[in-house]
Amino acid sequence: MADAQRPYVICHMTSSVDGRIMVRRWKTLDADGHYERVHAELKGDAWMCGRVTMQGYADSADPLPDPVPDDASAVSREDHLARRGASGYAVALDASGRLNWGARNEIEGDHVVVVLTRSVPDAHLRALRAGGQSYLFAGEREIDFALALAKLRSLFGIERLLVEGGGRINGSMLKAGVIDELSLLLAPAVDGLPGTPAVFDVPGEEADSMGSRAKLVLTACEQLPGGVVWLRYRINPVTDADRA
Ligand SMILES: NC(=O)c1ccc[n+]([C@@H]2O[C@H](COP(=O)([O-])OP(=O)(O)OC[C@H]3O[C@@H](n4cnc5c(N)ncnc54)[C@H](OP(=O)(O)O)[C@@H]3O)[C@@H](O)[C@H]2O)c1
Repeated sequence: MADAQRPYVICHMTSSVDGRIMVRRWKTLDADGHYERVHAELKGDAWMCGRVTMQGYADSADPLPDPVPDDASAVSREDHLARRGASGYAVALDASGRLNWGARNEIEGDHVVVVLTRSVPDAHLRALRAGGQSYLFAGEREIDFALALAKLRSLFGIERLLVEGGGRINGSMLKAGVIDELSLLLAPAVDGLPGTPAVFDVPGEEADSMGSRAKLVLTACEQLPGGVVWLRYRINPVTDADRA
């Protein structure tokens, strides 16, 4: 169960039977729309992706109509709400402010909120203000996920959040213990390429310990057309009793 200070967090992903997530590499798979249909069924107030996954949306943004004035004064590190009460939110995790959103402040009708660290350059904050994106700060140089989630709830009223990749963000959030549920569309495809992003990527030696940190409890299993299986798991922290 999520703590009341943050949204309930569901990680929603499609994977091959070998756990990889680069869907476009699987030529044998029919384009079937399961992912978007289940996304709608999960009824999130918001969805969130990592910097690499969000890059495609930022790359297709229109540039700002006018150059942003290069003001010498410092920009305060206060959270900025460009819009309240949106019908949905698209949340981008971008610790160093590398995504250039230009004039794009919506994705398919959902208002863009960027989660930053305090280390981002002032010019990036000016550009976000000019572009009409909201932003919040969580951490000095690395994202503090608990703080980011608490702010998404308190500032934007987000109570149910879908985390939708890629693997490094999913892995970081799993490691931080802030994912409550996994919604996995298991596709009848083999990827096979070593090093391809997987559902949860946790770099470094600590990856070995994930199996002893999170316990997955299967709560639903549904066969969908095209040989896809929709699996839902509740994610529980591992307790001392589990280890005994
Ligand atoms: N099958 C699916 O359902 C599905 C869903 C979504 C995405 N995808 C695929 O997944 C692929 C991308 O996966 P990915 O794992 O490479 O990328 P990702 O998780 O979207 O983003 C990785 C980036 O996030 C940042 N990052 C990593 N750890 C972080 C942390 N602890 N705190 C803050 N930021 C952190 C880093 O950005 P910096 O480099 O800026 O430091 C890193 O490069 C794409 O090809 C996409 O198509 C598949």
